[in-house]
Amino acid sequence: MIYSPKVMEHFRNPRNVGEMEDPSAVGEVGNPRCGDIMRIYIKVEEDVITDVSFMTFGCGSAIASSSMATELIKGKTLEEAWGMSNKAVAEALDGLPPVKMHCSVLAEDAIHIAINNYLKSVGREPWDYTESDHDHHHDTHED
Ligand code: FES
Repeated sequence: MIYSPKVMEHFRNPRNVGEMEDPSAVGEVGNPRCGDIMRIYIKVEEDVITDVSFMTFGCGSAIASSSMATELIKGKTLEEAWGMSNKAVAEALDGLPPVKMHCSVLAEDAIHIAINNYLKSVGREPWDYTESDHDHHHDTHED
């Protein structure tokens, strides 16, 4: 399998790894494809994500895509972070092998869950989201 130099660089030197003390919210998700787990911590001030970190029991692609995803949403508004897709993360990494795209969905899902947990914690309505719905079609034509 060929990984881009950017994937390898983020895998070897991931950004924003680790538990966060006193986060505004946490999002945790399991990957139905491989059973791996991702946890995202966010710190929110006035609807801006001022800090973010992740912990994962995922593979190298999950580590690289979470590293990139956390870099992309840091300093962004909740709405901007909400709109970041796993495809945008993969593009920022100069691509992921197709069989590894599901790994990048972990970070996207965990970010959505963390944002909704934050909204609920401050008494606001969670936003609409279906976990990993953009990845299901892979199951039907992969062999
Ligand atoms: Fe599980 Fe990549 S194989 S996250």
